[in-house]
Amino acid sequence: MNNTTTDSTPVHGLWSSKLAFVLAATGSAVGLGNIWKFPYVAGENGGGAFVLIYLLCVFSIGLPLMMAEILMGRRGGLSPVRSFSKLAREAGGGQWWRLIGFMGILTGFIILSFYSVVGGWAMAYVKMALSNGFSDIDGEQAGALLGALLGDRDAVVFWHSLFMVITIVIVAAGVKAGLERAVKLFIPALFMLLIGLVIYGAIAGDFERAVSFLFTPDFSKITISNVLNAMGLAFFSLSLGMGAIMMYGAYLPKNTSIPFVSLTVVISDTLVALIAGLAIFPFVFAHGLDAGESVGLVFVTVPLAFSQVTGGAVLLVVFFVLLMFAAITSAISLLEPTVAWAVEKLNTRRIYVAVAIGLAIWGLGLLSALSFNSMNEASLCAGFFAEQAAAGKAVPEMCDGANDLFDFFDKLTSNVMLPLGGLMIALFVGMRMYWRHTREELAIKRVWLFRLWFYMVRYVIPFAIGLIFLNAIGLLPWILELFGLAGTA
Ligand code: PHE
Repeated sequence: MNNTTTDSTPVHGLWSSKLAFVLAATGSAVGLGNIWKFPYVAGENGGGAFVLIYLLCVFSIGLPLMMAEILMGRRGGLSPVRSFSKLAREAGGGQWWRLIGFMGILTGFIILSFYSVVGGWAMAYVKMALSNGFSDIDGEQAGALLGALLGDRDAVVFWHSLFMVITIVIVAAGVKAGLERAVKLFIPALFMLLIGLVIYGAIAGDFERAVSFLFTPDFSKITISNVLNAMGLAFFSLSLGMGAIMMYGAYLPKNTSIPFVSLTVVISDTLVALIAGLAIFPFVFAHGLDAGESVGLVFVTVPLAFSQVTGGAVLLVVFFVLLMFAAITSAISLLEPTVAWAVEKLNTRRIYVAVAIGLAIWGLGLLSALSFNSMNEASLCAGFFAEQAAAGKAVPEMCDGANDLFDFFDKLTSNVMLPLGGLMIALFVGMRMYWRHTREELAIKRVWLFRLWFYMVRYVIPFAIGLIFLNAIGLLPWILELFGLAGTA
């Protein structure tokens, strides 16, 4: 294969249509982040105010950044590493910008390693639902079933392996082949099923309390770590900050409107997350479960909800099959940038690199898989900071509550690496690229709208992410003091 590319024939081919891109990008965005992560993180962070900050992050940081990533991808036409390199050259910048592409590769690597473990749980749940393992259970039993699965090392490793194999096979075959059809079918189906669950929750669950929990903000409970979690969740859920969307942008035909497709993807992703929250919390409250139930929330609540209805067993199978597909369409987008880069670099067949890289990710994933059973004591943070914590001294923010490797990888990528990647992408597009090039790609007719986007990307986003970071690591008060401004923040 030829490694050089012209505008009309990118190395890796193009999507067949605008719809294909929207579907693929939605497939990447909608996944475990919306259905598994959003509800439990919203629960852990106290609901309403967190959700509001999340939405603010999605629309003020996520949407403009999604446009930035897509425009970089389309103009670069290659894997994120190479697109950075090509666009930096075009704008007279140094090749060190490529490092951001490499950081994206590393980020995708780590995310996929634990993502696959959770994807595996969804598969295990399909099997359990098929054998009717959830009929007539109460809250305690639902929790015990999940506990039994997570505690079973061999089972968790088996399902994690199966999930990785499927992801590798799809990426090796070339992402575009099956993706369009799969997403077109499964995302709407998942959406309908969630809506059905919301309606059922309104009848059988404590809907009122769920709505008020999710949408009544109480800012007195908000801390900087809640804000960091909200921003991290927005990046994770929208697949931003590591080049997944940039990669898909590379396959986008020239004449498609980037603002339009971005808005479509952002709105669909957000709707799915909110609806998932509305589907789950009525049952959480109705059954007296804990809203801060943590990683198990969906896996406990949904079986519980369905176990009470006639035909629930079938619906439960459908639900976890759809969740599994949503996870797979996201997982491919986590692997694709790395594989595309290796194909460009090594000039070799897709299948070899997909298998090699996939195997390495699988290996790293074992650490997450085991952190629920054999390795749950051997946690990084607890190991390093146990004495400090026991003596009642402060431990680093990251280690606060992060008591296993799974959680550590999750926090590291969502709250640090993805926002950092987003910050760098914003700086590149806003400061380095020529204004006329970004204008040409976005083709926004109204000047004020383009300006709004531009100033968001150039100033507001880097500033906001920077501020949240500085605050989270406790440096902001210190800096303010340095400038004699203490007490003003
Ligand atoms: N957005 C995906 C989800 O919500 C996860 C993901 C994160 C995919 C980052 C790609 C990049 O499940």
